[in-house]
Amino acid sequence: MSVGRQSWHPERYARNARFVSDLGAPVLALLAPRRGERILDLGCGDGALTEKLLAEGAEVVAVDASPEQISGAQARGLDARVMRGEALEFEQEFDAVFSNAALHWMKDADAVVEGVARALKPGGRFVGEFGGGDNVGRLRRALIAALDRRGHDGAAADPWYFPDEAEYEAKLAAAGFTVESIELIPRWTPLPGSIDGWLETFSGAFLSHLLEEQHAEAMAEVREAVREELQDEEGRWHADYVRLRFAAQLTGAR
Ligand code: BEZ
Repeated sequence: MSVGRQSWHPERYARNARFVSDLGAPVLALLAPRRGERILDLGCGDGALTEKLLAEGAEVVAVDASPEQISGAQARGLDARVMRGEALEFEQEFDAVFSNAALHWMKDADAVVEGVARALKPGGRFVGEFGGGDNVGRLRRALIAALDRRGHDGAAADPWYFPDEAEYEAKLAAAGFTVESIELIPRWTPLPGSIDGWLETFSGAFLSHLLEEQHAEAMAEVREAVREELQDEEGRWHADYVRLRFAAQLTGAR
C-alpha cells in the first residue's frame, strides 16, 4: 500500500460495500437516463451502476482512478477507462455526467466540476450523489485521532471531501451550471458485517500512513471509539452516512 493512497480490492469491495451501488437507485431515478443518450459514469467503481445505465438504453463511458476497479468494470464488458476525475479528457461529448459515491474521493472539486462542464454538450446534465456535511463524522474523527495519537497529522491524511449544499452549489454555479436541486440526506446505513470490514475497505488512505504492524491496533481503537454510537443492541454495525444529492444543468457560456 503506498502512503496516502486508497487501494481497492474487488472481492473485499463486493463483500463489504455492495450496499453503495444498491443504494444508488434514487440518484439513477433523478438522472432519468434516456435511450440513446451518451452518458459518462464518473467514478464508476466496479461498474454495477454503469450496467443499469446501459440497461436503460444509454451509451455509457465509465471512468475511475482505480485500475483494480476498472478491471472489474471491464470484466462486465463495459467501456471502462482509468482516468482521474480531476483530469477528465473529454470535450462536449456527453448528454449527461452521472456520479454515485465517488466525488468525495476527489479533493480538487473545482477541477472535477470544470472537467465535467467541459465534457458535457451545452444544456447537458450533471447528476450525482456523494458524501456531504458530517458524513461518516464519527468514523472520520476517530481515524484522525488514531493517526494523531501515533505522531501523524490525521487531518492532513484525510482523503475525503464532504461539502455542504452552499459550498457545492457555488462550485457548480462558477463552472456554468444552474442547480435544479441539491440536498443533504442523512442516511444511517446498516453494514453487511462488522465495522472492521468497513475500515478495511474504506480507510486505507489513513492506515497507509502507519506501519503494517500498527494497523490492527489502530483499527481496534477506532472500533472502540465508535462502538457506543454505531453498534446497536443486537450487535449490528451502522455507518453514519450523509449524502449530498444534486441535479444541475450546464446553462452558462463556455
Ligand atoms: C461514502 O460513500 O460516503 C464514503 C465512502 C468511503 C468513505 C467515506 C464515505
